[in-house]
Amino acid sequence: MPPRRRGVYWWHRIGNGMDNTVGLKLGGLTLDVPFFQASLSGYSDHAMRALARRFGCPFSLADMMLAKSMTHPRVLRKPCFLPGADEHPVGAQILGNVPATMAEAARALVGVGYDLIDLNFACPAPKVLRRARGGALLNDPDTVIDCLKAVREAVTCPVLMKLRIGVDHQPRSRENFWEIVARSIEQGVDALVIHGRTVSEKYRGKADWEILAQVKARFPAAMVIGSGDIFEPAATPELLKRTGLDGFIVARGAVGNPWIFRELRCVWEGRPLPAPPDLAEQREVMLEHFHRILQGYPEKKAVGYFRKFVVGYARRHPERKRVLLTLMKAETRAEVEAGIDAWYRRA
Ligand SMILES: Cc1cc2nc3c(=O)[nH]c(=O)nc-3n(C[C@H](O)[C@H](O)[C@H](O)COP(=O)(O)O)c2cc1C
Repeated sequence: MPPRRRGVYWWHRIGNGMDNTVGLKLGGLTLDVPFFQASLSGYSDHAMRALARRFGCPFSLADMMLAKSMTHPRVLRKPCFLPGADEHPVGAQILGNVPATMAEAARALVGVGYDLIDLNFACPAPKVLRRARGGALLNDPDTVIDCLKAVREAVTCPVLMKLRIGVDHQPRSRENFWEIVARSIEQGVDALVIHGRTVSEKYRGKADWEILAQVKARFPAAMVIGSGDIFEPAATPELLKRTGLDGFIVARGAVGNPWIFRELRCVWEGRPLPAPPDLAEQREVMLEHFHRILQGYPEKKAVGYFRKFVVGYARRHPERKRVLLTLMKAETRAEVEAGIDAWYRRA
C-alpha cells in the first residue's frame, strides 16, 4: 500500500523513475489515474462517454445541464439526461445561480443515479453570461458560495466546482477568484477544477497553469485539478510535477480522439506509448461512435451531430482534407457509413 499523504492523494514510483501522482480522490470517489473527461456541452453525451470509458477513462462528466430544467421530473426522465446503467462512476454538471434550485437539481440528479455533482462557474457563452450564470458568477463570490453550501447540504456525494481564473485580468476579477477559491475550500468542496483562462479569453491563447500552481501552493491540502490544452499525453506527468496539481481533465483533446485515454493510461501506468491506431481501428471506432449516436437521435440529427467529431477523427488520416470533404457532405446514415468505408477500409 503506498503511503497516503494528507488523506487526499498518494505518490507512486512509476516506470520513468519520476514520482507521479497516480490516483485522484474526489471526496468518496477514488480514481486510479489522475485524469478524467471534462464536461463538453454538445459533445459529452452517452456515446462520447462510452468510448472514453472503453479506452481507459475512469470517470466522465455529462453535458452541462440547466439546474432549473432538472427540477422538472419530466425533463429529467429524458434518456439524454439519465446516466447509463453501465457507465458508473459518472458525474452531472449543473448551471444556475439560485442556491435552492441548484440544491434541488443536485438532489434530483443523484436520485436518478449520478455519482458526483459539479457546479459550473466557468461557462463563457454569451447567452449564459447574459443570465448571470456560469462564468459571470466569478464576480459574485457570495452567490457562488451560497450555491455550494446549498448543494453541499442537499447531497452526500462528492461536490466539485468548475472555475476559470477570473472574469478577466482586472485586479478585481483576480481578487474575486481568490476569494471564491479560499471560501469554497473552507466550505468543503471536494475538488476545484480550474480552467487556466479567464472568461473573456474564452478559448484564446494558452491556458495559464502558473496560476493553477499558485492555487495548489496556497492550499496544499485542497484537491486542485487543472484544465487547459491537454493534447499531449506524454507531457502530462511533467505538467503535474511542475505545478504540483493533483490531476487534470481532458476536453478538446478527446473530441474525435478517444485514443487519448489509452495513451494517457500507458503514460501514467509507466508503459510505453501504444502505436497509433491504424486505419482499420479508426474505422471501427468511428462506426461504433456513429452507431451509438444513432441510438440517441433521429438519423438526420445524428448525422449532423457526428460531423462535430469528424474533424477530430480526420486528424489522424493522411488524407485529412479529403476525408473531411466526404464526411461533411454526408447527409444520411448510408452516406456516412459509405464515406467511412471509402477512406478507412484499407488498413
Ligand atoms: C465545445 C466545448 C464545450 C464545453 N463545454 C463545457 C461544459 O459544458 N462545462 C464545462 O465545465 N466546461 C466546458 N468546456 C470547457 C472544457 O471543459 C475545458 O475546461 C476547456 O476546453 C479547456 O480545456 P482544453 O484546452 O483541454 O480543451 C467546453 C469546451 C468546449 C471546447
